[in-house]
Amino acid sequence: MPDILVTDDGPIRTIRMNRPEKKNALTLDMYETMAAAIASTATNNDIRCLLMAGAPDVYCAGNDIGDFIKMATGAGALGQPILDFLYALARCEKPIVAAVNGNAVGVGTTMLLHFDHVVAGDSAKLSTPFVALGLVPEAASSLIAPRLMGQVRAFSLLVMGRPLAAQEAKEAGIVNTVVPAAQTEESALAIAHEIAALPAQGVLMSRRLMRGAPDEIIKRIDEEGEAFKARLKSPEAQAALMAFMTRKKK
Ligand code: COA
Repeated sequence: MPDILVTDDGPIRTIRMNRPEKKNALTLDMYETMAAAIASTATNNDIRCLLMAGAPDVYCAGNDIGDFIKMATGAGALGQPILDFLYALARCEKPIVAAVNGNAVGVGTTMLLHFDHVVAGDSAKLSTPFVALGLVPEAASSLIAPRLMGQVRAFSLLVMGRPLAAQEAKEAGIVNTVVPAAQTEESALAIAHEIAALPAQGVLMSRRLMRGAPDEIIKRIDEEGEAFKARLKSPEAQAALMAFMTRKKK
């Protein structure tokens, strides 16, 4: 089975992260497929809403740490497919709904900040351990999170790396609905259909008015990308990433 499954069903395109044996950690190929699946909705009038989904027990464990180590020891580029995915999120004009169960780590959480409606299972946990890994926040989260959650809550999440339980994430304004975990996908799909049933041009224009041009977000993605690249090469990041990859399982 491919690591990303893209399925169109009527007006809904579902993008499912499907690498459960690695907790849906994202490889460059996965980013590339997701970027294309999002970007191509711009010219597909049949698709009115996207649904991002993971596995029943995990949404996404963030970037593949093995890939980070390769990037740190190689040319040091952040990886064009990662940037393409983030740009696709920033530029996407179709609403995106997420169904989040289990852990959403790193980009698994920061991608949610770009979405329009996030449904979380009651046992979901959002975390961004960037700084503990010697890194810095990405996906324009340093810009969007303080706006959505306020500075102090964003600092706790993005810098201190304190996780948010589903209900806390709802109170912080980055999750819309918390449901029993077994109902997450069904609820998210119902929301996607509700959005898809609205007048398409009205949704598009309203969303554009609310979001404005994506330029500021793209600029922040690039600024964070430069800082991230520098941090990846730092001894702290290399030690923390290597510690994860070589840790002993209990
Ligand atoms: N990159 C690469 N591999 C990862 C990964 C990641 N981000 N997250 C999990 N995996 C792999 C593990 O190495 C393990 O592989 P193995 O079975 O070959 O040893 C497998 O996925 C299962 O992970 P495990 O840690 O045993 O699952 P868990 O249920 O105990 O914990 C997480 C789940 C998500 C809490 C934990 O895997 C984790 O913290 N992952 C790293 C998250 C992270 O720091 N991401 C980067 C953010 S910038």
